[in-house]
Amino acid sequence: MNDSNHDHFKSDRMATWIKSAWLPQHPTAITVWTSVAVVSETVVERIDRSMSFAGYRFTASEALDCPVVANIRQLDDRSFVWRQTGAFIYHFNPEAGGDVIDVLVLCAQIHEVGWSFVVLAALPEHFKKGWTAFVEEANRLDEAYDQHDRVIVIGGRQNSFVPTVDWDEIVLPSALKTDLLNDVDAFFKKGVSIYLKLNLKPFRKLLLAGVPGTGKTMLCNALAKWAISEGYLVIYISSARKTSNEEEYTTSFSKIERALEAAASSSVPTLILLEELDAYLHEDEKALVLNVLDGSEAPLNTKGTLLVSTTNYPEAIDERVLKRPGRLDRVFIIPEVKTDMDAVEMLKRYLGAMWNDEFKQFAHELVGYPGAFIREVAIYALTQVAQDDLPELPPALLEKSFKALKAQIDARDNFLKQRSFGLGDPLRSANGS
Ligand SMILES: Nc1ncnc2c1ncn2[C@@H]1O[C@H](COP(=O)(O)OP(=O)(O)OP(=O)(O)O)[C@@H](O)[C@H]1O
Ligand SMILES: [Mg+2]
Repeated sequence: MNDSNHDHFKSDRMATWIKSAWLPQHPTAITVWTSVAVVSETVVERIDRSMSFAGYRFTASEALDCPVVANIRQLDDRSFVWRQTGAFIYHFNPEAGGDVIDVLVLCAQIHEVGWSFVVLAALPEHFKKGWTAFVEEANRLDEAYDQHDRVIVIGGRQNSFVPTVDWDEIVLPSALKTDLLNDVDAFFKKGVSIYLKLNLKPFRKLLLAGVPGTGKTMLCNALAKWAISEGYLVIYISSARKTSNEEEYTTSFSKIERALEAAASSSVPTLILLEELDAYLHEDEKALVLNVLDGSEAPLNTKGTLLVSTTNYPEAIDERVLKRPGRLDRVFIIPEVKTDMDAVEMLKRYLGAMWNDEFKQFAHELVGYPGAFIREVAIYALTQVAQDDLPELPPALLEKSFKALKAQIDARDNFLKQRSFGLGDPLRSANGS
């Protein structure tokens, strides 16, 4: 049998090598599991060289040849080493004089696919406390990676992304957009200090509710872009249902927990975007989520944490969340297109150069549909124009596209029909002020 095919033997082989190659010169060393964050070059580079780790300062790390783990690097989009496998020595200098400490770190990937690592460190027993503090700092920097220009993703395939949606691109009643942005802005700029004065955790929770395709995800993206321009940390918790194979083992709640931990360790105000809140409220984890919404469980950032969640299934968010004061501070209803003017604007946006003033009349028929539907109508029509090589879009073709899509959708379980949210008073009182 070939051991290398068996992941769980990887750490055994690493430990065996440590025993033969490291322990003879470092007889007091103990071997511990450690965090993959310590082998990220971006993280190591940012560790403050004057910071004290139980009386020691980190000075440098160097790579070491090791037959058990090869040095393979994964570069990020700026060519920094994001993750790497291999063997490394970390040097720590005592602040008060004495011997330099060397810590051996071995990191190996344990699955061919996905990013699962086993990381071991061999360190002098008396440096346990220092090493723990060092790992904690590495984790903090790892979570806060690039906090100023990218959104950190938890539970998704990518580590981070750059938000690109501008407020102007979103066609919604301007009062609603202004209201939302003012709410968020006021929390960070004024609200946080009020919470602190009252001895409350500065944690505000908003919900964007609306049928599919009304622009909730777009709003989150635009909020993220705004928050980054303000220098805030933005964390995006990817949808609970679309777990990648790597995440299958972590429960969805642990993603919320990780986000809150990252927020707590951040030195700047933090915006957490949680898509599909309803998906987290299943029986297994509901109690945990409720505790988080209460703020009783959450470690918190004194600079303020704002949670913006979305749902297109508010029926699933029961009274325990909506009616109990303090769990959700405010609900914003994100509506379908409400006026002829908005329908015209939406059509113009997605038809681009093919827009024609004659379409204004037709726009009325689009009132009551979500933005995503109007976009589909436009794209469908433009595809026909391209197929038939037409110089412009005839009004009849636009109308035909609308009817075709409407028929498809009507057939699909009334998906676009006005839904009664069934939320009762909390919604009205939250939104109708
Ligand atoms: N209000 C809007 N203004 C401009 N474009 C919109 C708007 N709503 C939807 N769209 C278009 O439809 C696409 C889908 O919208 P989005 O993903 O934001 O909807 P959603 O409300 O998040 O839907 P879901 O509830 O299904 O997640 C957008 O990328 C955009 O192209
Ligand atoms: Mg969405």
